[in-house]
Amino acid sequence: FRTLDDLDPRGKRVLLRADLNLPVKDGKITDMTRIERLCPTIAELAGKGARVIVCSHFDRPKGKRVPEMSLKPMQEALAKTLGKPVAFADDCIGPEAEAAANALKDGEVLLLENTRYHAGEEKNDPALAQGLAKLADVFVNDAFSAAHRAHASTEGVARLRPAYAGRLMQQELEALDAALGNPQRPVVAIVGGAKVSTKLDLLGNLSSKVDVLVIGGAMANTFLAAQGHSVGKSLQEADMHDTAREILATAKKNGCEIVLPLDLVVAGAFAANAPNKVVGLDGVPADMMALDVGPATIADVNKRLATAKTLVWNGPFGAFEIAPFDAATVAVAKEVARLTEAGQLRSVGGGGDTVSALRHAGVADRMSYVSSAGGAFLEWLEGKTLPGVAALAQ
Ligand code: 3PG
Repeated sequence: FRTLDDLDPRGKRVLLRADLNLPVKDGKITDMTRIERLCPTIAELAGKGARVIVCSHFDRPKGKRVPEMSLKPMQEALAKTLGKPVAFADDCIGPEAEAAANALKDGEVLLLENTRYHAGEEKNDPALAQGLAKLADVFVNDAFSAAHRAHASTEGVARLRPAYAGRLMQQELEALDAALGNPQRPVVAIVGGAKVSTKLDLLGNLSSKVDVLVIGGAMANTFLAAQGHSVGKSLQEADMHDTAREILATAKKNGCEIVLPLDLVVAGAFAANAPNKVVGLDGVPADMMALDVGPATIADVNKRLATAKTLVWNGPFGAFEIAPFDAATVAVAKEVARLTEAGQLRSVGGGGDTVSALRHAGVADRMSYVSSAGGAFLEWLEGKTLPGVAALAQ
């Protein structure tokens, strides 16, 4: 794919697909990461004299102009982070957007209203893609985290204008390729999460690519139960035992070692500071549930990380939101950060709760790379082609 190194944007109208789908609570942005990571691309384009037209979706308004889902509040956040004014157009296509785009001077920035105010966005309607393309001479996609959606502003428009990857998109793709595409071995993957059923493709794909697959989170209970261990009141999927056994068998055939917990931290209730104890695999009392893995498991995982060259991490080990069941996630995360800083390990994390878990452990900026993507990171782990990326590679 082409990057900004291949583009001289001076005097050009550049449509930049960003992901401004930021977490917002009570009208306030609670995490600026996506804006902070996007701004270098805008600054580079504007600095080179481009007329930058930023578009994005925000939340899921389903084709309606839901006022709480306006991108207007992002205008100020963007301007502040960029350190320069950002204009705003009340629609992403049509006369107002066209007039605003045409009024831009070299180096100026315009933000368009939510692309999902149009039903055509999610349908990848050619009319919407045309409307967006009309605003610009070239298209730059910096929204890796929305690249799993084949929408008009991610996929459709990329086919109508010369298309380039922005710096954030480039960074994500390079980091992910170094982790799974063309990694230094041995590769360890840590996968946590509640349900095996939502991570079937992911586990299948990873077991064909990595050397060691560590399974944590509540989904580990399903594997343990499938192996005949009693898991008490632990969260698990009784209807997934056959599937779990199949995953274990396939991994073995692929030469991938699956690592399951050796011990568990159990409590009577899912509650912060619930009385708890460490038990062996066959020691889970019938009225208790596993909420974390124990010290023997932490030591076992850390031992494997000591000889690994690459780590892909998705999902926490335990119920990290409530103390003290964050212990294993924090302990392993700290070891990952230490090995990364020692230059021994390339560590990449992302998807779902992973970023908040790594943040909670205080190591999010000590990993080699933490993806800004949720669903897109998961689909990439599943080995799927992301339509937004594929459209850049044409
Ligand atoms: C995300 O936050 O993962 C992306 O912005 C995609 O959002 P969506 O799941 O609403 O398509």
